[in-house]
Amino acid sequence: MERFSLRFVLMMVSIILTSSICQAQLSPTFYDQSCRNALSKIRSSVRTAIARERRMAASLIRMHFHDCFVHGCDASILLEGTSTIESERDALPNFKSVRGFEVIDKAKSEVEKVCPGIVSCADIIAVAARDASEYVGGPKWAVKVGRRDSTAAFKALANSGELPGFKDTLDQLSGLFSKKGLNTRDLVALSGAHTIGQSQCFLFRDRLYENSSDIDAGFASTRKRRCPTVGGDGNLAALDLVTPNSFDNNYYKNLMQKKGLLVTDQVLFGSGASTDGIVSEYSKNRSKFAADFATAMIKMGNIEPLTGSNGEIRKICSFVN
Ligand code: HEM
Ligand SMILES: *[C@@H]1O[C@H](CO)[C@@H](O)[C@H](O)[C@H]1NC(C)=O
Ligand SMILES: *[C@@H]1O[C@H](CO)[C@@H](O)[C@H](O)[C@H]1NC(C)=O
Repeated sequence: MERFSLRFVLMMVSIILTSSICQAQLSPTFYDQSCRNALSKIRSSVRTAIARERRMAASLIRMHFHDCFVHGCDASILLEGTSTIESERDALPNFKSVRGFEVIDKAKSEVEKVCPGIVSCADIIAVAARDASEYVGGPKWAVKVGRRDSTAAFKALANSGELPGFKDTLDQLSGLFSKKGLNTRDLVALSGAHTIGQSQCFLFRDRLYENSSDIDAGFASTRKRRCPTVGGDGNLAALDLVTPNSFDNNYYKNLMQKKGLLVTDQVLFGSGASTDGIVSEYSKNRSKFAADFATAMIKMGNIEPLTGSNGEIRKICSFVN
């Protein structure tokens, strides 16, 4: 009996130790010894790409989100289809939608030149998202690194509701985020990424044409011009119509005027939404939004990373070694 309980205590201690060590492995200084130039190499690749195409900032931030919500931040989203890999790129929420793969590939090849086999693709995505935010006027943060890359992709999981749907209710969104350890405040702050970037017409069409009272009539008629009831499915519209290229708090001001583009944007404000207060706070205080966004991005980047000897460091981001 005593032997049993001693063993039990030891087992609990070792579980607690292992899990805290695993958590502690992500750190802003992870590559300081092993690849001193890793972060600056990534940064210059990202800057070059965004200078060429401003929207790439949005695309890289979104890629990090779609990576982390499906089986953790493990670069599983990058893997291309092969005889053994069913690519997440082909999952419904990602297909013809997530972009920026070539930017990550380029950054990886630059990093491989200075320290081959050291820096994970999952970290490159996380660093790229941070650099993208900073480049377009958003917050910057000490990005934590030390993730490793998956040896599999999870297409079925990506299709099965790990990622939010474009017509989800506030309760559904909160539920989904809470499963990932993110609270409602994180949800509202992270949704503020929609202050940049674009959406295809078929993802917001119904909201324009349902004559609902939670959309501004002038805004709806402007957006209908490039999003007809039939056709034009892939036509793009800025998620933030006022300042589409800068990472500011205009997104929240839009919501308060019923000018959210997606259903899932507007559910955060109006009709007595429980998040009204947070939206209003961010609309008035850009620096509060910036601080909370940075905190939430770090939290999101901590979702189930592979560390220690789990996974691998891929040589090429789109294929397992
Ligand atoms: C809360 C639930 C969310 C939903 C339902 C949602 C949905 C969408 C949809 C439907 C699009 C347009 C995609 C397309 O047209 O192909 C989009 C774009 C985007 N999303 Fe979200 N999103 C959510 C949360 C987030 C989060 C947490 C982030 C990042 C922190 C994010 C960042 C972006 C960005 C930056 C774009 C523009 C991408 C580009 O222009 O390439 N979204 N989102
Ligand atoms: C919305 O209003 C327009 C114009 O009054 C009408 O043609 C259309 O059928 C309405 N749509 C719905 C879904 O009620
Ligand atoms: C805005 O938020 C910051 C915290 O980031 C706080 O220090 C400041 O007092 C807030 N400003 C206003 C006007 O509430």
